[in-house]
Amino acid sequence: MWNTNKFCEQLGLTYPIIQAGMAGGVTTPELVSSVSIAGALGTLGAGYMTAEDMTESIIRIKQLTNHMFAVNVFIPEDNNLSSERVARADRLLDSYRRDLQIKKEPFTSTPFPYDAQLESILELNVPIVSFTFGVPSRETVKELKKNNVITIGTATTVEEAVINEDRGVDAVVVQGSEAGGHRGSFTGDFSKGMVGTIALVPQAVDQVRIPVIAAGGIMDGRGVLASLALGAQGVQMGTAFVTSQESGAKVQHKEAILKTTESETVVTSVFSGKPARGIRNQFISDLKEFESELPGYPDQNSLTKPIRKEAAKQNKPEWMSLWSGQAPRLSTRKSATELIDGIVRQVEGLIQEKW
Ligand SMILES: Cc1cc2nc3c(=O)[nH]c(=O)nc-3n(C[C@H](O)[C@H](O)[C@H](O)COP(=O)(O)O)c2cc1C
Repeated sequence: MWNTNKFCEQLGLTYPIIQAGMAGGVTTPELVSSVSIAGALGTLGAGYMTAEDMTESIIRIKQLTNHMFAVNVFIPEDNNLSSERVARADRLLDSYRRDLQIKKEPFTSTPFPYDAQLESILELNVPIVSFTFGVPSRETVKELKKNNVITIGTATTVEEAVINEDRGVDAVVVQGSEAGGHRGSFTGDFSKGMVGTIALVPQAVDQVRIPVIAAGGIMDGRGVLASLALGAQGVQMGTAFVTSQESGAKVQHKEAILKTTESETVVTSVFSGKPARGIRNQFISDLKEFESELPGYPDQNSLTKPIRKEAAKQNKPEWMSLWSGQAPRLSTRKSATELIDGIVRQVEGLIQEKW
């Protein structure tokens, strides 16, 4: 059977499908629980959350389902805060603030909530944790394993997949360049990891023993079956779930994905200071020439946050971050359950028809 393998068994899943943890309010407890109840794995994107907000969402998920679910967190990076860079980037945002009629807030660097999040994850007996932007330490993996927490890493190259395996994680998401949202790269320049899913997945499968989860451009049953054929034991899908009914994405974000085509996304650092794939808009074009001078994550993210938030309120999608992968034509307005059921039917139909 296409849906029975070691990975599904270990995670207690009916289908080898993970709904990506997507920070920024997309992964509501309703989305996470609906996905898990449908037999796939729902993930709370906790990257931007304080440990307290994350705890509240986890409690709500547990009220909605007793199925397995995961929480996704960001690994902290060295932040070489340069106040000069921050001040310069802040000045570039003056015109947006003027147009939106919002005040300039004094800049405060946001600390990574990682340690406090891990503590709460252990206290709340979260069954599965996934990581991006780096690899967890061996000690962290050991501690989580001691508490029966399953761990999933992220890699954008074979080298990063091998590092994840070496740290002891149970599985690794291999993120192709088609993927929407932030690049999970953590070894050197991100451009090294801009390899398409179909090329990257089988090469990673050949080099690690842990299950490989394919991500990037997978939107339907065709993508799921193709990933399994490449040797992946599962898929992680982001964009497909952004437009689902239970997703908490802003309406402008959902509508933008639904009407976008394959050639309208770009990888940009202008919103957060970290490369991410989203739909090209005016904010990206305006700041492109300054991209290399902007501060890194999370400082640029903190600087642009009030603008993105107010732009959504004032219905100005041209200034919002509209993360999307390269297959937006395949997006739909379905509920998460309909989306998963449709994928399963399509995979089974393809197997019967063609093989
Ligand atoms: C809106 C959005 C937000 C995302 N946020 C996260 C995140 O917080 N953590 C993470 O590990 N991956 C994040 N991703 C990336 C996904 O894990 C995954 O790699 C990607 O969605 C796969 O490509 P696809 O969007 O074409 O399905 C995000 C993706 C999107 C579209």
